[in-house]
Formats: sequence, structure tokens, C-alpha cells
Amino acid sequence: MRSLLIFSLWCLFVQDSIGGDSLDFSGMGIATLRKPFISDEHLTDLNLSHNHIWNVSSDVFEDLPSLVYLNLSHNFFPFSQLKFKNTSVLETLVLDEAVVGDLDFDVTYFEEETLEDEYNRLRETKAKHNYGFDITFTQDWTLPKLKHLYLRGHNIEHIKFAGVDALDLLMPEISHLYLSNNKLITFDLEKTLPMSLQELYLDDNKLTNFDADNLNNVAVLALDGNKMSNFCDINEPCKGITLKHSYSLEVLSVSRMGLENIVPDAFKFLVNLIKLDLSDNGINSFPSNALSDLLSIKILFIDNNVLEAVPEIKNLNHLEKLSLSKNLISELTENSFSGDLKQLKSLNLSSNIITSISSGAFDKLGSLEELDLSKNLLYTLPNDWIPDNVNLQYLQLKENFFQNFSSLALGRAKNLKYVSIGGNRFSAMDVGLLAELPKTAIIDFENTLP
Ligand SMILES: *[C@@H]1O[C@H](CO)[C@@H](O)[C@H](O)[C@H]1NC(C)=O
Ligand SMILES: *[C@@H]1O[C@H](CO)[C@@H](O)[C@H](O)[C@H]1NC(C)=O
Ligand SMILES: *[C@@H]1O[C@H](CO)[C@@H](O)[C@H](O)[C@H]1NC(C)=O
Ligand SMILES: *[C@@H]1O[C@H](CO)[C@@H](O)[C@H](O)[C@H]1NC(C)=O
Ligand SMILES: *[C@@H]1O[C@H](CO)[C@@H](O)[C@H](O)[C@H]1NC(C)=O
Ligand SMILES: *[C@@H]1O[C@H](CO)[C@@H](O)[C@H](O)[C@H]1NC(C)=O
Repeated sequence: MRSLLIFSLWCLFVQDSIGGDSLDFSGMGIATLRKPFISDEHLTDLNLSHNHIWNVSSDVFEDLPSLVYLNLSHNFFPFSQLKFKNTSVLETLVLDEAVVGDLDFDVTYFEEETLEDEYNRLRETKAKHNYGFDITFTQDWTLPKLKHLYLRGHNIEHIKFAGVDALDLLMPEISHLYLSNNKLITFDLEKTLPMSLQELYLDDNKLTNFDADNLNNVAVLALDGNKMSNFCDINEPCKGITLKHSYSLEVLSVSRMGLENIVPDAFKFLVNLIKLDLSDNGINSFPSNALSDLLSIKILFIDNNVLEAVPEIKNLNHLEKLSLSKNLISELTENSFSGDLKQLKSLNLSSNIITSISSGAFDKLGSLEELDLSKNLLYTLPNDWIPDNVNLQYLQLKENFFQNFSSLALGRAKNLKYVSIGGNRFSAMDVGLLAELPKTAIIDFENTLP
């Protein structure tokens, strides 16, 4: 009776919603996928996310030979139930928070149960189901056109293969692999990465080691939130991250990892890296010249570490954005920045403990447009601290200890468009001194104590 009802409903929706070539069945309370299902040789996109699917009969997708996008996220079925024909043209498969382990799958099907009872029972089981499991790829996962595979938000501990050696034999065109928010203890695929892979997301897992001999064509790698305290030497194995032959890498994200030790050769192969995020770690210094290997870097984040000085940055003449907020930097001298930082446009030094800035400290930063010095311990700045002819436009000086406007020494900020000065200790508002600023500049007084 229930099946009949659901089937009739489906027929109705199918007729209603097959407008183009896509079908949105998300959030419709579907519990099982079995034939009769949709049969449509033109359907390309199918969204079945946010249902209660716990039992998938693998033949249901056979009558959808043109299916390119399949979203099964937010369901609850055993990984092994999914099987595909090797003629599938699927390009995107979304399985975020969709699958559970196999052996421990104990949901039974009660013919007499009402739908509501079934959902409640499944929801309870799902809530309890937070232990780790492994997934195994077999020949049934031969997806010759698959490019994007999403498997985020499970408790997957290991990825295994049975009857087939490597991922690229199953998915020769895979370009994006999303494995974030799992419990991966090892990622054995790093030794046999498919040549087609461009983006690899392994953030927020339980990895303690990532040793890639060859990242092949991977351009984006995210390892944030795994626990690895060492960025290792390419010649001396150690526990942590080792990146060899990573010439294609353009974006590397290694924040929130507890990183402390960066060895001198750590970045030797990152010559084409454009963006590096080292935020929220425990780095207190870099070996001299380590950062100099990052010859192409444009964006560098080292926020929320324990640096006591601006790291030595030579050769990085493409660097445009440098963020060093939330460190323990206490002073800036004329030697703090290298003359190679000619392209640097944006510098963030907020939330440090800077008490003193020498005249000339920023003189080498000829392209500087945006400077954040908020939340430091500054009470005065030298008259010539802003270099002549610099195109400084956005300046944050809020939440320091300035007592009067003259100690901000803004006289040379000819191109200023915005300055924040709130949260200081101004004893009097001598607005006359601010009249030197360009007429169009916005002065943000928020939280200025009188
Ligand atoms: C489900 O996917 C389709 C594409 O097939 C998309 O148009 C739709 O917005 C998605 N539904 C939701 C709720 O995001
Ligand atoms: C899958 O569908 C859900 C909701 O229907 C949507 O929010 C999500 O963005 C989709 N995922 C992808 C990767 O397309
Ligand atoms: C697809 O599977 C069939 C058997 O189901 C097999 O005969 C055929 O060789 C396979 N094709 C490819 C390209 O793997
Ligand atoms: C899943 O559905 C099929 C029928 O499509 C049924 O034979 C099978 O027993 C169901 N699985 C479970 C665990 O109930
Ligand atoms: C500087 O970094 C802090 C985070 O630590 C952020 O809140 C702030 O917006 C950044 N400043 C600029 C100008 O981007
Ligand atoms: C402004 O403040 C600085 C530092 O607190 C102090 O040395 C200076 O005398 C003050 N100038 C005026 C005009 O009050």
C-alpha cells in the first residue's frame, strides 16, 4: 500500500518536474530507491539529497543513461549498495553525509511501519551511528567520465580497493576529490594519485602523515585540521607533511594542524605555489631562506601563530598579500621587510603586540595599498612612518593606545580613502590635525572614547 502511494506520488512529481533535463527530488522523504524508478533517456541532473534513503537497489540508475549529475547527499545507505554500469556518463557524484559502513548496518524494513515511525527510527539510528568505517572501491565503481566526487562528512577511516589497484583505473578522468570531515587515519592514495587529479581536499581528518612523492598535476591541496607538527625535509623522511615533485601545486592550505617545525628544505618543490595558508599553527620562526623557495607566491597567510618578528622574506617579488595578524610581533624596524616585496599591496599586522615602528619601516613597500595595524600597543608613530609616494589607501589604526591625532602622523597619507581610529585613548578631539587628510577620506571613529 505504502509503496503504491509513493510510486503514484513520484509519477505525479515526475510529470510535474521534468521540465528540462533536471529533476529535483531533494527533501521529499524518499526512503528506498528501487524499481520502478524514473526512466528517462534525456535526464542529466538528479538531486535526491536530504531524503531518508537507506536502501538503494543498484539497478535504479540504469534507465538514466544520460545522467551527468547525481546528488545523494544527506541520506543514510551502505556504501556498498551503490553500483554503476561502466557505461555511465556520470561526471559529478555527491555523497556528502550520504553513506554508512556496511557490516554494522542494522536497519530493518518493517512493512507495516508508518512512514513517520520509519523516519524517526532511522534518525535515531543515524544519530547513534558515529563510529568509524572503511569504504571499498570495486569494479562496480567504474565511472569513466567522473570528474567530481564528494564524500565529505562521514566517519571514513580508510579507503580500500578490491579487485582493482588504483583509483585512476576506475575513474580515469577524476579531477576533484572531496574527502573533508572524515576520520581518515591514512590516505594511501598519495602514492598513486591519478594524473587527472587537480584538487584534493583532505581537511579535517585524522591524518598524522602525508608523504607525497609526486603530486602529479594536483594544483589545490587542503590538509587543514589534521594533526601534523612537522613540515619535513624532502630528503629526510619524518612524520608530518612531505611534498616532493609538487611542481603543479598552486594552492596549499595547512592551517589548524599544530605545525611547529618547518625545516629549511620544506618548500623546495613549491616553486609554483601562488597561495599558502599556514594560519592557526604554532610556528615561532622559519629557517632563513625557507620562505625564499616560494618563488611564485602571491598570497601568504601566517595568522595566529607565535612569530616574534616578521619572518625573513627574500626573493618573493610576486607577493601581493601578507597576513601576520595574531602573532607576537613587538616591533617593526627598517630591516623588517625585504626590498624584494615590491608588489606587496596588502599587509595585515593586527592583533600583535607592536609598541614601536621605526621611521623607514615601510619604505621598501612601494606598492602598499592596505595596512592593518589595529589591536596593537601603539601610542605614537614617527612623522615619516608613511613612505613618500606610497599609494596607501586603507589604514586601520583602531584599538591602540593613541592619545591624540598628531601621534598618528598621517600628514603624508595623500591617497588615503579610509582610516579607522576608534578604540584609542584620545583625550581631546583636535579635528584640525585631521584636516591634513584628503577631503574624500573616510575617517572611522567607531568606539572612540572621548
Ligand atoms: C538539486 O539539484 C538541482 C540540480 O540538479 C538544483 O537545481 C537544485 O537547486 C538542487 N536542490 C536544492 C534544494 O539545492
Ligand atoms: C547537493 O544538494 C544540496 C541540496 O539539495 C545542495 O545544497 C548541495 O550544494 C549539492 N551539492 C553539490 C556538491 O552540488
Ligand atoms: C564493461 O563491463 C562489461 C561487462 O559488464 C565488460 O564486458 C566490458 O569490457 C567493460 N568495459 C569497460 C570499458 O570496462
Ligand atoms: C532493500 O530493498 C530490497 C528490495 O528492493 C530488498 O530485497 C532488501 O531486503 C532491502 N534491504 C533491507 C536491508 O531491508
Ligand atoms: C586582518 O586580520 C584579521 C584576522 O586576524 C581580520 O579580522 C581583519 O579583517 C584583517 N584586516 C584586513 C584589512 O583584511
Ligand atoms: C600626543 O601624544 C604623544 C604620545 O602620547 C605625546 O608625546 C605628545 O606630547 C602629544 N601631543 C599633543 C599635542 O598633545
